[in-house]
Amino acid sequence: MSSQKEKTSNANQPPPQHIAIIMDGNGRWAKAKHLPRSSGHQKGVQTVRKIVKHCAKLGVNSLTLFAFSSENMKRSSEEVGLLFKLFLSVLKTETKKLKENNIKLKIIGDLSVFTPEIITLAQEAESDLRDNTGLNLVIAANYGGQWDIIESAKKIAVDVANGSVDPNNINTALFNKYTSLSNLPKVDLLIRTSGEVRISNFLLWDIAYSELYFCNTLWPDFNENALDEAIKDFHSRDRRFGERNGEK
Ligand code: IPE
Ligand code: IPE
Ligand code: MG
Repeated sequence: MSSQKEKTSNANQPPPQHIAIIMDGNGRWAKAKHLPRSSGHQKGVQTVRKIVKHCAKLGVNSLTLFAFSSENMKRSSEEVGLLFKLFLSVLKTETKKLKENNIKLKIIGDLSVFTPEIITLAQEAESDLRDNTGLNLVIAANYGGQWDIIESAKKIAVDVANGSVDPNNINTALFNKYTSLSNLPKVDLLIRTSGEVRISNFLLWDIAYSELYFCNTLWPDFNENALDEAIKDFHSRDRRFGERNGEK
């Protein structure tokens, strides 16, 4: 970051309203420690706990976490099975803690690949936390940004066919209502850990004007300070949205 940009950052500014994170690097973290990949994923869950708590403390409105991409289904059946098991155990153990911390939960993605037990627990957790008023936690599981856009288009097509939507009225605001993250504030900041500089089919529609932040830290090593650093960098950005500074 240039020194001029650093000058403009301000710790007293409100946090980004909506942070999305591509939590990457669990496998490399484990490999570097000569541990099985499963240890990296388990350690990654601990980081999730820390970051969720920290976002709630900072007053972030929404946090969307990429837990499992649609493409991750192509991994070995052993790893996919392990990730499913981890998802199940997290749903079993964390819902109570989320409730105590006034956190709401939404799970986005094509859940049809999961076991009936996972699907039921996910639905129960969402409804159990529905009345909470704090952080909106969104977990993207078997999620793909292209899938999200296609699902929205399919739902709009149904509404056009049944006459409730006039094709001439399809615009950004209407399309947005059909996407997985409708009702939540726009994604202000997208973070990807582990040094990879790509989106890997995470949110596509939603990051049209997000600030992107890439860091080398592997997800199991990411922590509160690393998030503060990302937010500080976010505050140093000049968000113009196509306009010119200070001019309309
Ligand atoms: C991210 O870590 C977690 C998931 C994709 C489920 P990876 O498993 O991709 O870790 P690396 O990229 O191999 O280090
Ligand atoms: C993206 O990471 C998905 C998640 C972090 C859940 P990947 O590790 O799957 O992405 P690629 O394969 O490096 O693009
Ligand atoms: Mg990866």
